[in-house]
Amino acid sequence: MSTILVTGGAGYIGSHTCIELLNQGYDIIVIDNLYNANAKSLEIVQEITGKQLTFYQSDIRNEQHLQHIFEKHEISAVIHFAGLKAVGESSEIPLEYYDNNINGTLTLLRVMKKNNCQNIIFSSSATVYGNPKTVPIKEDFPLSVTNPYGRTKLMLEDIFKDLYASDTTWNIVLLRYFNPIGAHSSGDLGEYPAGIPNNLLPYVSQVAVGKLQFVGVFGDDYDTTDGTGVRDYIHVVDLAKGHVAALQKLEPKSGLNIYNLGTGKGYSVLEIIRTMSKVVGKDIPYQILPRRKGDIATCYADSSKAKKELNWQAQYDIIRMCEDSWRWQSKHPNGFSD
Ligand code: NAD
Ligand code: UFG
Repeated sequence: MSTILVTGGAGYIGSHTCIELLNQGYDIIVIDNLYNANAKSLEIVQEITGKQLTFYQSDIRNEQHLQHIFEKHEISAVIHFAGLKAVGESSEIPLEYYDNNINGTLTLLRVMKKNNCQNIIFSSSATVYGNPKTVPIKEDFPLSVTNPYGRTKLMLEDIFKDLYASDTTWNIVLLRYFNPIGAHSSGDLGEYPAGIPNNLLPYVSQVAVGKLQFVGVFGDDYDTTDGTGVRDYIHVVDLAKGHVAALQKLEPKSGLNIYNLGTGKGYSVLEIIRTMSKVVGKDIPYQILPRRKGDIATCYADSSKAKKELNWQAQYDIIRMCEDSWRWQSKHPNGFSD
């Protein structure tokens, strides 16, 4: 079985993907600078799977160290999660976002090429669709972005396209994730955002566990069933499995392929709060606040291309997503430091 380099593998989606890869018999090398992760996540990955992985605490912009890793291990493909991801923060410190996301990826691609490893899966995002004219969103919809984080994703997609156009021996899969939530069913691995969460699910969970007082609902005057924003929430384990399916697509001459990874179903903010309340068994207080700048009304995927070509489909429903989020949050209210 081949060896996969997972950049950002200690993070939320990366650690769940490591579990699926180890379960499928892949050998894994993880590189992560732990900027937004705790190495404990990788210990838990190994406990859950009963398998070992190799971890380097290092930055992907450190070209020399990356070269050393490629010399030491025979890496057949890279799954590239490493990057900065907070939309709001990206407008405050754009240079850091461009440096980390763009320079990090360029360094990685240079080292891969030098070492004849030309198979890569990249974490893109539904954010590249901007404000779509219609839903569900298909891969060939027009692309546009409104913030530096989104711009790094769109620029990187273009970089991958240019790279492939220049050299068709590369095999590239760009995965556009919708809204990942949930946690591993053990309740021992999940997302623990630093500071006050920006995303809905971690915020709702922290209100449910009593760390925050109420959920601020950003606008109830959108053109949706109840006026609140609608998103395609996808279980992080389903998303992780999508990477294993994509790896199998990375055969020689598979070319450059783009897939949406979503469930195809949209849920409003109030529906999420209600579902979480049921799961937790108590009311979750909320208040309607003004719209958040840059938010759109509705976003959900048409994932039929991934179903057809990758034989992948999301399995878990919204109740299971909330149950798993809650198990993680209630078992580890302080994340990996518990
Ligand atoms: P995360 O922050 O939990 O994981 C990213 C990991 O990369 C972290 O462990 C961080 O420490 C590491 N990292 C950052 N810069 C690095 C560098 N220069 N060198 C080495 N390691 C570095 O985020 P996540 O939610 O797991 O997201 C993974 C990827 O998926 C990111 O590229 C993100 O932009 C993308 N994505 C995430 C979402 C989402 O909502 N979570 C949606 C769409 C796309
Ligand atoms: N929301 C609230 N209150 C909150 C947080 C969010 O009402 O405290 C609402 C938002 O207005 C939106 C919905 O909940 O309607 C989801 O918001 P998130 O912040 O959880 O997610 P976004 O859809 O805004 O963005 C996320 C990631 C992006 C990624 C995108 C698509 O943050 O990086 O999903 O994958 F690009």
